[in-house]
Amino acid sequence: MNGQWKPAVYTHWFVAACSADIRQKPVAVTVLDKPLVLVRLQSGELLALEDRCPHRQVPLSQGRMTAEGLQCPYHGWTFGSGGRCVKLPGLPSHACLPQVGARAFDVKEFDALIWVRLARHADVERELPKLITDLPAGSRRFLWQTRWSSHIVNALENFLDPLHTHFVHPGLVRKDNQRNSVEALLTETADGFFVDYRGQLQQSGILYRLFESARISERAYYAHAGSTQIEYRYQDGSIVRISLHFTPQSADVTHVFATMHIENRWAPAWLLRLLVWPFLKRVASQDAQVLALQTQNLQRFPDARHASTELDLVRPYIEKFWLDSDSKLPQSNSITLYL
Ligand code: FES
Ligand SMILES: [Fe+2]
Repeated sequence: MNGQWKPAVYTHWFVAACSADIRQKPVAVTVLDKPLVLVRLQSGELLALEDRCPHRQVPLSQGRMTAEGLQCPYHGWTFGSGGRCVKLPGLPSHACLPQVGARAFDVKEFDALIWVRLARHADVERELPKLITDLPAGSRRFLWQTRWSSHIVNALENFLDPLHTHFVHPGLVRKDNQRNSVEALLTETADGFFVDYRGQLQQSGILYRLFESARISERAYYAHAGSTQIEYRYQDGSIVRISLHFTPQSADVTHVFATMHIENRWAPAWLLRLLVWPFLKRVASQDAQVLALQTQNLQRFPDARHASTELDLVRPYIEKFWLDSDSKLPQSNSITLYL
C-alpha cells in the first residue's frame, strides 16, 4: 500500500478539521498528501486553498488574516473570496490586479466539522454521506480528533472489525473468556455497507456493563470514503452513535475525527465527559498503539501478504474501494463468530 490514491477517491469529501479550530489564524492540514490551508474570511466564507502562494510558492499557512483576506508572508499578496488575489502591495492603484489566485477546493461545514473535496471541476456531483447528514441536529455530545500511524485501510478495518477487541481492549470492550455466538450479516449500500451483529444483547466489557441498558441492535456502517459509525439501539428507545471519520494525510498517517451522538436519553455532555470519555480515550490509544506496531512491521516486511479467513468480513469491501476495484468479494456476506 502506498500513497498513490485512486482517482475516484478524490471525488469524495473528507474531514479536514474541526470547525472550532478555524478562527483567526490560517490552519495547515494535509489531505491525501495534498498540503492545504484552511481559513475563514471576515465575510464568514470558508476557504480551503492549496498551501502555496502562486507568486513564489511560499506556504500561505505561514501568512496572516487581514480584513481583505489571507496575506502571504513574503510579498503580501492577499487572497480573498474563492482564493482570488485581491491585493498586490506595491502595485500602483490604477493598475489592474493580475487574474491569479491560490488554488481553491470545495469546502463545507457540517456538524462542527470542516469537509473538503480535492477533485476540482469533477463531473461527479457528490454530497456528504447520508449517514452523517441524517444525524439529528443537537444530538452530538462530543467531538475529538487524533492521528494514527496507519494506512486508512488498516484504520478502517480496525474500527469496523470487532475480533481484535478481546486482545487490544481486554476487559474494557470484550473479554476473551466470555464469548458468545453472534451472527454478522453484511449488506451493501449505495455508498458502502453496514454489518448487523445479531445475538449480542450484552457485551462483556466493563464499558458496556456500566453504561448500557438492554440492547436491541448493533450495526456498524461504512460510507465511502472515510466515514464509519457504530450504532447501538436500546429497548428504552435511545440510540447511541459513535462515528469515526478517517482522512489520509499520507499512506502511513491517518487523521481521525470522532463524534458521539445520543438520542432519547438523558446524557448531558459533561457527564459523558466525566464518566465515559476516559474509557473511550483509553480504547482509542490502545488501537493507536497496535496500528503503529502494524505500520512499523509493514515497513520491515513491505511485500508481506495478509492471510485472511471468512471471519475477516469487512476487509475485502474496504480494499475494493481503496486499493483495487477488481479484488474479489466473499461469496457469503453472513458469518457466525464468537465475540
Ligand atoms: S511568495 Fe507570496 S507574495 Fe510573493
Ligand atoms: Fe479497537
